[in-house]
Amino acid sequence: MKGIILAGGAGTRLYPISKIYSKQLTLIYDKPLIYYPLSILMLSGIKEILIISNDETIPHYKKLFGDGSHVGLKIEYIVQKAPNGIAESFILGDKFIGKDNVSLILGDNIFYGKLDFIYNAIKNNEGATIFGYRVNDPERYGIVEFDENGKAISLEEKPKVPKSNFAVPGFYVYNNEVVNISKNLKPSARGELEITDVNIEYLKRGKLKVEKIGRGVAWLDTGTPESLLQASNFFGVIEDRQGLKVACIEEIAFYMDFINKEQFEKVISQIPKSLYRDYLEKVLKND
Ligand code: TTP
Repeated sequence: MKGIILAGGAGTRLYPISKIYSKQLTLIYDKPLIYYPLSILMLSGIKEILIISNDETIPHYKKLFGDGSHVGLKIEYIVQKAPNGIAESFILGDKFIGKDNVSLILGDNIFYGKLDFIYNAIKNNEGATIFGYRVNDPERYGIVEFDENGKAISLEEKPKVPKSNFAVPGFYVYNNEVVNISKNLKPSARGELEITDVNIEYLKRGKLKVEKIGRGVAWLDTGTPESLLQASNFFGVIEDRQGLKVACIEEIAFYMDFINKEQFEKVISQIPKSLYRDYLEKVLKND
């Protein structure tokens, strides 16, 4: 299973900062937003990762992560010239995906809590597996409608009159068919290659699984100033209370055995003196 993080976009809702700065580089409490989706892929055991973003932002990601080898990853980068839609990921990522299956996470999506729904989906996926999460404002999202047996029967992108309160979060698991399906899509009325259209195609083929995510899981998306602040406060409270960091990729690499103790020590030695380094030193001593 390969992983893609789609981390470009226009970020218009964050104007004026979006004029000069990518949303996924904004701080969520103590680390850039993109650490959160990256950590989800790592915790799912995915090591081969493609980061897709615009021309200006890719050098920043490269500075943050390089080729990923220090944390046991193999990270590649590719430019998306314009925000042409989420499904363009699989066209741009064609070579990277090769003959493999692929999980896609949006760079501004954060999941926190018991993540078994993701691990199980990756283990058991046959066609496509996506999720449904109850939200208060369904008209802002792709929406899934279920029948009385809990089977998904329709999908709609940002409907004016939503048929349910279940939004589809930005984490999707696909078999290799996704590449061809995406290549055959036509842009929607808003000019984008829609991920909802990919999922509708899997639904038509009888190969779409939609799993409901329980209320014990936090799904945060961080497209607006309010939601960025909420996410920062959320992780500030949790990290302060537990004394543990969320989405600390060096810690996760060590915990997942992507790197051994010597490699972990080396990674720490290259981090400048900071609270982040102090934390990693504490993790190393506790081992
Ligand atoms: P959106 O929130 O749909 O869009 P956006 O980030 O451009 O923000 P705004 O609506 O304020 O203009 O994007 C969801 C995520 O996917 C986000 O991390 C950006 C990324 N994205 C791309 O990288 N390329 C794309 O073509 C699209 C549509 C989104």
